[in-house]
Amino acid sequence: DLDSLRKQQEVFDGCALKKTATNLVFSDGNAESKVMLIGEAPGEEEDKTGKPFKGQAGKLLDKMLDAIGQNRDNTYITNLIFWRPPGNRNPSVEEIDACLPFVLRHIELINPKILILAGAIAAKAILKENNKGIIQLRGKWQNFSLNKATIIKTMPIYHPSFLLRQPSRKRDAWEDLKKIKKEIDLIT
Ligand code: URA
Repeated sequence: DLDSLRKQQEVFDGCALKKTATNLVFSDGNAESKVMLIGEAPGEEEDKTGKPFKGQAGKLLDKMLDAIGQNRDNTYITNLIFWRPPGNRNPSVEEIDACLPFVLRHIELINPKILILAGAIAAKAILKENNKGIIQLRGKWQNFSLNKATIIKTMPIYHPSFLLRQPSRKRDAWEDLKKIKKEIDLIT
């Protein structure tokens, strides 16, 4: 269950980021939710608080979710990487590979109907999209095969940190959120 997954992550020594991080950032939100969002990696605030999306990007994420009737009571939020990369650098391929099995198990335990992948790094790692960038991936539904029995409707979106740097992309992000809202309305 989720408690054992968290414990396994806490004792996992296969990712060097643990040495420099303060806290494991496991998740936030409602584990019963049918909507799950996966971000990239903890930053400074997340490392301090042990919760995902607590800094500036988190504030924007909360606004984005709010625009489609979602929040931390009806959405489950985690990250691809559960320890903060020093100075917020991008996680390495090795770090992603080390964390990925835990993330896949996390998805399995939550068993969402809708999976939102925020940003290029989470989208590419989870969907195994090595040749497409986030501009091509965003806003398009994919059937993500978690295992033989489980296919999850999955949509990559722009990461809120990216939108903070490139506000002109917010218009596209809004279109993507509307598509997600439509799908949420069908399952609730
Ligand atoms: N960015 C992320 O992708 N995740 C967080 O938890 C915070 C910032």
